[in-house]
Amino acid sequence: MMEKLQIPVHIGVTMDGNGRWAQARGKPRTDGHREGIKALRKLVEYAIRHGIRYLTVFSFSSENWRRPKSEVEFIFKLLRRFVESDLQKLHANNVRIRILGDREELEAGLQDIITEVERKTQNNTGLNLNVAFNYGGRAEIASAVQKIARAVSRKEILPDDIDENLIERTLFTNEIPDPDLLIRTGGEQRISNFLVWQSAYAELVFLDVLWPDFDEEDFVKSLEIFSSRQRRFGGIEPVS
Ligand code: IPE
Ligand code: MG
Repeated sequence: MMEKLQIPVHIGVTMDGNGRWAQARGKPRTDGHREGIKALRKLVEYAIRHGIRYLTVFSFSSENWRRPKSEVEFIFKLLRRFVESDLQKLHANNVRIRILGDREELEAGLQDIITEVERKTQNNTGLNLNVAFNYGGRAEIASAVQKIARAVSRKEILPDDIDENLIERTLFTNEIPDPDLLIRTGGEQRISNFLVWQSAYAELVFLDVLWPDFDEEDFVKSLEIFSSRQRRFGGIEPVS
């Protein structure tokens, strides 16, 4: 049916549905988050196996602070453990890790771990794994605007120097190409403030599967859907 699978350079994934997965089994939501981390580990393997260059996962949005404190703390503990304990293995697999998001609000210990992980893997040339953590797309743009405004007020640049390119270089995703494909599990069909600037031309794939159930078949299915779409970037000729 499919002539050739197109491999996107950059895939973004919104890992949604952990809570519902647990609730459907009569378990606490936190069990769903624990399973979700397992699915994330597997996702990294699929990405490596299929030759993806950049993978960005949405793990905690700046809006998720609205959840009960106990759930927020649990998610933080899990992600901290993920970054700490999976690091050696990811590093050995030549994975470069970047954390996208507002770090200032995080506790100092966690900030140190993040800095260390990024430093340690910065010369790796395999998969680029970006973990969006305490991330919000609009906040990211607002923070870029502040940085640029400061540069203008210091007379380092002129207002006329502000263009899309400069904004892009000022976002957390500096040096990371725009996502070609965004996958969201959990059945909701929304962007929810994920990579809002960067995903202007991304293909969107929404899956009904709850995140902990996401498997390699779903991953390949997403690549197939991506391959079947014609990307024109506003033009009329298909771009291949
Ligand atoms: C996604 O699963 C994980 C995070 C946002 C941290 P949810 O926790 O949103 O699960 P549902 O959507 O309530 O099922
Ligand atoms: Mg959700």
